[in-house]
Amino acid sequence: MIVPLPDLAAMQAFGARIADQLRSGDVVALAGQLGAGKTTLARAVLASLGYKGEVPSPTFTIVETYDPPLVRLPVVHADFYRLKSVREAEELGLDDYRKGAALLAEWPDHAGGFAHEAACLSINLEIHDLGRKAIVEGGTDWLGRMP
Ligand SMILES: Nc1ncnc2c1ncn2[C@@H]1O[C@H](COP(=O)(O)OP(=O)(O)O)[C@@H](O)[C@H]1O
Ligand SMILES: [Mg+2]
Repeated sequence: MIVPLPDLAAMQAFGARIADQLRSGDVVALAGQLGAGKTTLARAVLASLGYKGEVPSPTFTIVETYDPPLVRLPVVHADFYRLKSVREAEELGLDDYRKGAALLAEWPDHAGGFAHEAACLSINLEIHDLGRKAIVEGGTDWLGRMP
């Protein structure tokens, strides 16, 4: 599925559609080069889940967590860019962070990738003219709720 994202308003709307469908246990794998819009889309999802505050890019902290009542469901926002091995994702306690939460993962391949999980929504963001486009694939858990 290809989703055109010509501007920031389209990003907000796409984030809202993802947020509407999001359940705990899901992974939204946000791939794409630096500046492709991964953090922008993660922010749009968090805003649509009810979060009113600033959402920092987790570039340096790697993991940021958001919990009810500030959001509709617990969310872990991660940026795995700085991980040097898949084992580092385990060492930072990713499995524990994920319990009961949905994961928004930037640079998912640096954490070993999540596309093998039925609950993974893979979003590959590409720069397209002045905007972006997304190539979206869902695991079997996403059947009937593709955003
Ligand atoms: N659909 C879009 N159209 C135009 N500009 C966008 C779009 N999505 C994001 N941007 C811009 O791209 C820049 C980089 O976005 P960011 O989300 O930080 O990228 P990433 O996290 O992938 O490195 C930001 O200035 C953002 O406003
Ligand atoms: Mg980013």
